Amino acid sequence: MKPRILVAREVFTDVLDFLARTFDVSSNQGDTPMSPEALAQALADKEGALTTLSERIDAALLAKCPKLKAVCNIAVGFNNIDLEACRERGVMATNTPGVLDASTADFTWALILATARRVNEAEAWLRAGQWHGWKLKQFLGTDVHHATLGILGMGRIGQAVARRAHGFDMTVLYHNTRRLSAEVEKSCRAAYVSMDELLARSDIFTLHTPYSPATHHLVGAKELSRMKPTAILINAARGGVVDDTALVEALKRGTIAAAGLDVFENEPGLNPEFLNLKNVVLTPHIASSTEATRHKMAMTAAENLVAALTTGKPPNLLNPSS
Ligand code: DGY
Repeated sequence: MKPRILVAREVFTDVLDFLARTFDVSSNQGDTPMSPEALAQALADKEGALTTLSERIDAALLAKCPKLKAVCNIAVGFNNIDLEACRERGVMATNTPGVLDASTADFTWALILATARRVNEAEAWLRAGQWHGWKLKQFLGTDVHHATLGILGMGRIGQAVARRAHGFDMTVLYHNTRRLSAEVEKSCRAAYVSMDELLARSDIFTLHTPYSPATHHLVGAKELSRMKPTAILINAARGGVVDDTALVEALKRGTIAAAGLDVFENEPGLNPEFLNLKNVVLTPHIASSTEATRHKMAMTAAENLVAALTTGKPPNLLNPSS
């Protein structure tokens, strides 16, 4: 008898085929997010699960899934998983670090450029048939080249964003819980500064921190008030790291100039006021979404699940038992 597993959301066919070599696979290829009750029911007789950010794995769910041994997230972020609850129940949890850094950094740049140069706003205006000729002052934007880029969170993705800034001749500053080695700072051409200095000096301020209780509303009204009125805020990291209500206010009042957002508090819901603001670029959590990268993420998660249930040693284990 093969171990039973659940693939909680749609994945690529070859990933399902790969899993089927080792497991008896049930999968939600209809891709409708499952309610906590439906998820618990589907996992009641399963040893493993391939999950995404939309599945909350907490103590209440685990109590209903006595056979579960491994939860493998198709994401680098794992704020949907209560690691401590998993550890207590002997459930291994894994993520997919590394495979999405470059695509996420590329997309951060898409947001930076689209926001600074008002690409979406100008396109919507053109599509609405409003363009009747060239004007000197049409859609005046903000220069990205030679500006100061501030990076909050200098892990792999933050560093990849920093390296891409060299082509724009930017000054790169960063703040991180730990200062990077001199060698890494040199390769990123980035200078370490305090959070206050980062807020005060950035023309473009981009976040690359995970979400946790420690980073909840790391950027709120107080932090926004320290930024330049010309500053642009970019968030392709996690909703909740920025206080969206405070951000809406700051954008309305001109405390900062604009924002490019791929993530939101309470996704897929978002503060409806964002929709009425012209100085925001909004995308639906797609920073890692290229064909190649989403495929690598799903396959990495599948490989973690096979390793977890066959050897007990998945490569990307988040909660070692000792
Ligand atoms: C991640 O990997 O955490 C991303 O947010 C999912 O695209």
